[in-house]
Amino acid sequence: MTTGSRFITDFGLILPERLDLLKQIASVAASQSLPLFVVGGFVRDLLLHHSVNDFDLVVEGDAIHFGNALVRKYGGKLTPHQKFHTAIWHLPNTSETLDLITARKETYLAPGALPTVTPATMEDDLRRRDFTVNAMAIRIDGGHFGELLDPLNGRADLENKIIRVLHPKSFVEDPTRIFRAIRYEGRYSFTLEPATLSLINSESISVIMRLSGERIRHELDLVFEEENSSQMLLRAGKLGLFNAIHPKLPMFNPDYFVFLEIDPILDIPMSRMEIGYMLWFMDLMEDDILSIARRLDFSSDMTHSVWAVSQLKKSLPFLVNSRPSVWSLALENLPLLSIYVVYLVSRESALLDYLSIWRHVKPHTTGDDLKARGLTPGPRFGEILSQLRAAWLDGDLESAQQEQDMLERLIKLN
Ligand code: CTP
Repeated sequence: MTTGSRFITDFGLILPERLDLLKQIASVAASQSLPLFVVGGFVRDLLLHHSVNDFDLVVEGDAIHFGNALVRKYGGKLTPHQKFHTAIWHLPNTSETLDLITARKETYLAPGALPTVTPATMEDDLRRRDFTVNAMAIRIDGGHFGELLDPLNGRADLENKIIRVLHPKSFVEDPTRIFRAIRYEGRYSFTLEPATLSLINSESISVIMRLSGERIRHELDLVFEEENSSQMLLRAGKLGLFNAIHPKLPMFNPDYFVFLEIDPILDIPMSRMEIGYMLWFMDLMEDDILSIARRLDFSSDMTHSVWAVSQLKKSLPFLVNSRPSVWSLALENLPLLSIYVVYLVSRESALLDYLSIWRHVKPHTTGDDLKARGLTPGPRFGEILSQLRAAWLDGDLESAQQEQDMLERLIKLN
């Protein structure tokens, strides 16, 4: 990477079909005399020689007008958003979509509020962004293909591995940028430039309190999706961000960092993000978990999963050495991932037995068999089937014949 050259020629990290698509889009922009740019993370990662495939496309002009020209030439469908001067292009013959954005200026009416948007030049658009390394654009229309627009010296900061805000009010206007800074720092091993670091102070952190739960959760979700999430959580905690989110939000227990890097061993859908929150809140009191879940605007499923982890962990001492049927009864209404997370931290082998074996155990007898034996459907049905299952789980039955004998005894008791 050399700071000198104004034209970027090495697009080798983009898949050939993506580069073709970019060139096709660029040819329509050229025919409409619309300056078209790829911006932000695309440029940053291209210059860092990381793989890039997501385009952030910005036109200096009307993105909706440009989108209509793309549809005329290549087909597909356009969903325009007049208010934001943006459009979504649904590409023909695929489920893929591309966002088309009009270069814009932003004004913040209040700290932490969403900005008001007006059309502007590409350079204005770069000046409203978070960090210098994200404030570069590559022009791609016609003969301009590859031209780097870098009015804020982002390329030099990229070379020096520095994260620098564009102006002192950046974090106060949008404190989600504090989380973004931490993510880039951890992801690329960059350093927060001292003046930028000093802007993460009580003034900007206090604005986090005013952010909606959804916006904060989105930032935290992205942290859990990162490879170095442990480092980022440590950093966020040390900077005092958690207390601003919720007074009961604890530091992430360093003993649990290792579990953020799980290798799925079971046929349970794994989500790094869900596991992350479960580990984080596992040792809290029930009321605090529910209050934090409300602050972060968790779905009811997510709240239930996190709550289930803490409940199960607390009840382990009472379950240890129980028979498999007792374990199964205690676990059968809990989310599988919650059980798995408690297994990770406790290594209680019964939890793994339940996940891999016990939960699949069923008697041969079915409800239909009971009906065929003349029993009327009702609660007793379920009881008989549960008793048969429990007997299999606890090793009291070993053959289909033994199950039949037990069934006869249970029916007689009826
Ligand atoms: N941006 C910003 N302030 C924010 C969010 C985004 O200035 N609070 C700008 C940055 O220029 C960023 C671009 O919008 O590059 C796109 O945002 P996003 O897709 O969230 O980030 P990426 O740069 O693509 O980075 P990542 O790899 O983390 O997704």
